[in-house]
Amino acid sequence: MKYTGRAWGAWESRMAHAKVAIIGDGNVGTALKQGLTRVGYEVQAIGKVPEKVREVARWGEIVVLAVPFVERENAVQEMGDAVAGKPLVDVTNALKAGEFASTPQRSGAEELQAMARGAKVVKAFNTAFAATMSTGQVHGERLTAFVAGDDKEAKQRVLRMAQDIGFDSLDSGPLRNARWIEALGYFHIQLGFNLGLGPSIGFRLVRKSP
Ligand SMILES: NC(=O)c1ccc[n+]([C@@H]2O[C@H](COP(=O)([O-])OP(=O)(O)OC[C@H]3O[C@@H](n4cnc5c(N)ncnc54)[C@H](OP(=O)(O)O)[C@@H]3O)[C@@H](O)[C@H]2O)c1
Repeated sequence: MKYTGRAWGAWESRMAHAKVAIIGDGNVGTALKQGLTRVGYEVQAIGKVPEKVREVARWGEIVVLAVPFVERENAVQEMGDAVAGKPLVDVTNALKAGEFASTPQRSGAEELQAMARGAKVVKAFNTAFAATMSTGQVHGERLTAFVAGDDKEAKQRVLRMAQDIGFDSLDSGPLRNARWIEALGYFHIQLGFNLGLGPSIGFRLVRKSP
């Protein structure tokens, strides 16, 4: 999509510095809040306070879902119609009782899209650890934020958000590609925790500058 003149200005201001509602204020919610606030976004984050979740989601122009995988359905119910028409950023790692819970036939993000039909689900940030999420960087290197979604504008907004934090954001195609992004997230956890490399690691896709 190419924008020029006034159209470019309108597009830019829609993309820039949106109000971001983060559902889940644990490790990830806190790190993303810190990173986004640092670069000028307005952010509200909320934990498991069912009577407040909808209000916070309604306030946000972009909603980030940073709750445990098994809590997605509850959180979607708590948000109700407050997320309709908005980018819903799925940060979750597909884990149930510590085991990988996505399949080559259906990702957690596609499941989430079925739970929250009115929202525009975008998969992002799950391949980074919370320890690196406020800057998008490890040892001075920008990590790749793999961003997948079916709605073009919603995906652009999340690409922009990741880039603003400091990630090298990469359009990773349609939401169905979350199947592979979730697998990568699981491998990341294996490397960091089961193989002992720790949380200060991350993926970077080496490529020609766009
Ligand atoms: N930690 C990482 O490095 C990392 C990296 C990438 C992706 N992820 C994924 O990101 C998600 C969050 O991880 P985390 O490490 O931040 O977990 P966490 O520290 O345990 O935080 C989870 C948050 O979700 C909230 N929550 C739980 N159920 C909720 C509900 N029904 N409605 C609203 N809020 C709810 C919790 O609130 P209360 O505290 O009030 O219960 C808490 O604030 C997970 O899906 C994880 O797989 C984690």
